[in-house]
Amino acid sequence: MDPVSYLEANQERFLAELDAFLRIPSVSSDSRHAADVKRAADWLADEFRRLGADRVEIYPTPGHPVVYAEQHAGDHLPTILVYGHYDVQPPDPLDLWDSPPFEPVIKATPLHPQGAIFARGSCDDKGQVYMHVKAFEMLKQQGPLPCNVKFLVEGEEEVGSTNLEGFVKQYRDMLRAGVVLISDTSLLSIDTPSITVGLRGLAYLEVTVTGPSRDLHSGVYGGAVDNPINVLCQMIASLKDAQGRVAIPGFYDRVVNLSEAERAELARRPHDEAAYCESIGIRQTGGEAGYSTPERTSIRPTLDVNGMWGGYTGEGAKTVLPSKASAKISMRLVPDQHPDEITRLFTEHFLRLAPPTVSVTVTPHHGGNAAVVSTETPAYRAAALAMEDTFGKRPIPTREGGSIPIVALFQRELGLDPVLMGFGLDSDAIHSPNEHYGVLNYLKGIETIERFHHHFAALHGA
Ligand code: BES
Ligand code: MN
Ligand code: MN
Repeated sequence: MDPVSYLEANQERFLAELDAFLRIPSVSSDSRHAADVKRAADWLADEFRRLGADRVEIYPTPGHPVVYAEQHAGDHLPTILVYGHYDVQPPDPLDLWDSPPFEPVIKATPLHPQGAIFARGSCDDKGQVYMHVKAFEMLKQQGPLPCNVKFLVEGEEEVGSTNLEGFVKQYRDMLRAGVVLISDTSLLSIDTPSITVGLRGLAYLEVTVTGPSRDLHSGVYGGAVDNPINVLCQMIASLKDAQGRVAIPGFYDRVVNLSEAERAELARRPHDEAAYCESIGIRQTGGEAGYSTPERTSIRPTLDVNGMWGGYTGEGAKTVLPSKASAKISMRLVPDQHPDEITRLFTEHFLRLAPPTVSVTVTPHHGGNAAVVSTETPAYRAAALAMEDTFGKRPIPTREGGSIPIVALFQRELGLDPVLMGFGLDSDAIHSPNEHYGVLNYLKGIETIERFHHHFAALHGA
């Protein structure tokens, strides 16, 4: 059957199977869900077995398991390594979901008139991983595969891919391929196809300011004892100047600045500032002076507080001068900033900022390098051709603000520039309540991936 008819004949089942996958709450950060994460790995491995893959393995790691599957079609054929993740972000805050996060429902929205699947992981990344599984099914029913295919689907992406680095190094030979194909990013819109050619890196840490050895009466002691929350606020506020630039010495030293020509090229991507503000309920954007919104969210580094706590936050008023205050802080990085170096610069600066009335600790969490991939590879060309087939338009190369730390590792360890062909939309609310994924995005994704395999095969040896 030709791919379009096959997709039409099977789309209900493709949606029903994804529904089952999304019902497994594979929240990697929460140890209470460890068994669910394993269940999602088993479910996916079973699916590969059902489809008749040559080899299916679940590799345990010190954390969550890696699912690996492969189908060999010929030594002379090129190999596609598909990477994705089956773990998801925690669904909290639960009360902001219109329907339970692990009970998928399909509803129409203004941006998804044909319906979107509302569930945690629908877009990031189970829905996008499953497009590759269904494209594999479609290719298999056509006869011999046009390319060899390998699948590497991990369960720790949302917690920093801690064990994947070791895995990739250990199994470098098994993972050998002509391209790494990843669907874990966004399209500019459903009728403006794009391929992601850059991702930001990340340095994430937690800080704690400690003052008195216990919470104090704010009347008895207030005025004479420095308040850790006030101190923390002042320290954090000083981390950015009035121009919105990060005030940590050395922070920008390695930042690769784009030429005016490169910036002009980026500015060709459509951006509607008013619609952008409207979609997230703000009156106007804010950020580093001299840069546009698309630039601020892609080619420039950032510093943001992700959460902050301390003192009394319960009902009513409690007059207390807290003993401690903490915050989680992330910095999005761009080439060639190094997460370890940025973490060191932050730590040195932050400790210097501390007044002698308190003590300060900085604890690093995970990090990752930014990545920029080439558009001059056969794999990128195959992706552009595949998108042109299914969207009727040539895709625009874009740089995105999110991070997939393993991309830089693939570049380093496998010597490959991954192709980031994602089908989500920025408005799909990944990591937020009411995450969703367009039914059309899902189906078009399957169709485009199928085309990719054919184009990649055709370009090989061409
Ligand atoms: N799929 C996202 C990254 C992403 C989203 C890239 C949208 C481009 C567009 C990924 O699952 C993710 O959330 N990554 C984390 C980093 C990780 C180290 C926790 C992120 O970007 O916060
Ligand atoms: Mn993801
Ligand atoms: Mn994510």
